[in-house]
Amino acid sequence: MENFNCYDDARRAEAYARLEFPGTYYLAYRDLPEIMAEHVTGQTALDFGCGTGRSTRFLQKCGFDAVGIDIAESMIKKAREIDPEGIYYLIENGDFRPLDNRLFNLILSVFTFDNIPTMATKIKLFRDMTGLLKSDGKIISVVSSPRIYLHEWASFSTKDYPENQLARSGDIVRIIITGIGDNRPVEDIVWTDESYREVYRQAGLETVAVYEPLADGSEPYEWVNETKINPWVIYVLRKGV
Ligand SMILES: C[S@@+](CC[C@H](N)C(=O)[O-])C[C@H]1O[C@@H](n2cnc3c(N)ncnc32)[C@H](O)[C@@H]1O
Repeated sequence: MENFNCYDDARRAEAYARLEFPGTYYLAYRDLPEIMAEHVTGQTALDFGCGTGRSTRFLQKCGFDAVGIDIAESMIKKAREIDPEGIYYLIENGDFRPLDNRLFNLILSVFTFDNIPTMATKIKLFRDMTGLLKSDGKIISVVSSPRIYLHEWASFSTKDYPENQLARSGDIVRIIITGIGDNRPVEDIVWTDESYREVYRQAGLETVAVYEPLADGSEPYEWVNETKINPWVIYVLRKGV
């Protein structure tokens, strides 16, 4: 369970590297520029769980001086291939020493916590990340809503996994990313809003804002449930006082 990571896989890294912001993914990123403008001051950013660098390059485009870290070698290899000028570190789980005590205005984590098991592991990682923040720094954590595993979406399918309906916070759930040429299910850990708030509280973080992005129908995608049910949740966090 501790090393649970279905992303440490060359074929998945290859497929993920082709993914930009289509369909349902669009809603995870659409509001981030505005959210970051509202809550973040300064330009240094750490992308925790950068994968093939999509979220790091997104931060760069938003004007941040961004560094990406990940525990999956195949993902970091791909990120460096796509963006040879970028800074990407392969780290051991929870080992932030390659960052050399740098402090950041923003730590962005997009979908990373979907794959991190147990309350204790999540608390430890959030607590350690808090130590990488400047005094007014923010963590923005984008995670899957538990509802994503129960419905059909423009970019995902869960209909083959009816057992997801019975999953409780902390259980493994399965979901297929459609249209990327890798139909093997991704295994995630479902985690409720209540459980996330408990993690943040125990990690010494205060929840500043929560966003549940919905599509409004004007987007160039064929939505399935995205106008009614939010697939993602975005948490803005700061050090507690
Ligand atoms: C779904 S991918 C998202 C990648 C990227 N943030 C994006 O939006 O394209 C999640 C990534 O989190 C990484 N990850 C999982 N657990 C991690 C941990 N403990 N520390 C750092 N990265 C981790 C995985 O290896 C994977 O590359």
